[in-house]
Amino acid sequence: MVNDPRFLRAVHLEKTDCTPVWFMRQAGRYLEEYRRIRERHGLLEMFKNPEIAAEVTLQPLKAFPLDAAIIFADILLPLEAMGIELEFVEGEGPVIHNPVRTGGDVDALRVPDPEEHFGFLLTSIRWVRAELDGKVPLIGFGGGPFTLGSYMIEGGASRNYVLTKRLMYEQPASWNLLMDKLAVMLASYLLAQARSGAEVLQLFDSWAGCLSPADYREYVLPHTRKIFDALRQAGAPSIHFGTGTADLLPWMREAGGDVIGVDWRTNLDDAWNRIGTDVGIQGNLDPVTLMAPWPIVRQRAREVLDRAGGQPGHVFNLGHGILPATPVDNVRALAESRIGNLTSMNHG
Ligand code: CP3
Repeated sequence: MVNDPRFLRAVHLEKTDCTPVWFMRQAGRYLEEYRRIRERHGLLEMFKNPEIAAEVTLQPLKAFPLDAAIIFADILLPLEAMGIELEFVEGEGPVIHNPVRTGGDVDALRVPDPEEHFGFLLTSIRWVRAELDGKVPLIGFGGGPFTLGSYMIEGGASRNYVLTKRLMYEQPASWNLLMDKLAVMLASYLLAQARSGAEVLQLFDSWAGCLSPADYREYVLPHTRKIFDALRQAGAPSIHFGTGTADLLPWMREAGGDVIGVDWRTNLDDAWNRIGTDVGIQGNLDPVTLMAPWPIVRQRAREVLDRAGGQPGHVFNLGHGILPATPVDNVRALAESRIGNLTSMNHG
């Protein structure tokens, strides 16, 4: 039982006492208590240790009044079980040592059984659910097929996605097989998280915004739609997120999701006009604004709320993840301002 379900109410387009708020990457290096654990452990080790993952998931919830928890994991984790050699390199981010470059590489990728390969994650989800005791819902998540595919092909972060787009254009059959394997993996991965206790499921297709609308529609949308169609059996609502997606929004909406996440490059009212107010919207303060003096943060947060116009279905968030250099006091002040500010500061 969720005692204070304003996040779930918003996702279902119902009225709330004030706008629910959580922050993408709310667990991370901007928190001193996170850095203390991180000093002693590698990142992959932290994700795979349910005691650490559960503790880190709960750190921001203990520090601020947030309306949702998100399980501490990474979108790239399930790639290991597909046959990808993944490393998080200090100061550099994720590196893949055996990138996918040929049709043969795509053929060799395995589609893992979640219960067999991701027991650590499902255990973390069960433990966090028990700890939260219904106070706020828990979000499970996975990467979008384009974003995961681009990491696999490029071998890490990319500026222009040249290798990814070349595979897409030059070897469409291999591209489709890659997207299909990712879609099948993601559907079962997310459904397993829901069975273990995740109450909302978010798909991070963070880099899909590098595609033209026509290419998104042709090369990504059918695969993403398969994932969201499969998620209907979870009975858990879903969030579909990307960055730089202004002109992709109608197509992302068509692919699926009860809530569409948008970044700060699109105003919420424009975004809502494009997708229709019969779906929810999540966003969209620029995370760098959180480094500004508090009066500016407050002003910009108000502007986000004004754009949302009190319409049911708004989940307040950043347009992308919290950055490591973010002053924790601004995060606290924003969470404590009780976004929408209509009633109590009380939480659960
Ligand atoms: O939001 C949360 O608190 C849950 C945890 C979470 C992580 N990664 C932990 C993490 C979530 C939701 C993600 C998603 C993720 N991971 C995305 C999609 C969201 C987005 O930001 O677009 C992407 C693209 C990744 C891939 C990834 N993981 C990158 C590029 C990096 C390195 C950059 C960075 O921020 O350091 C990671 C590492 C990572 N994943 C960290 C965390 C907390 C950094 C932690 C550390 O070094 O201690």
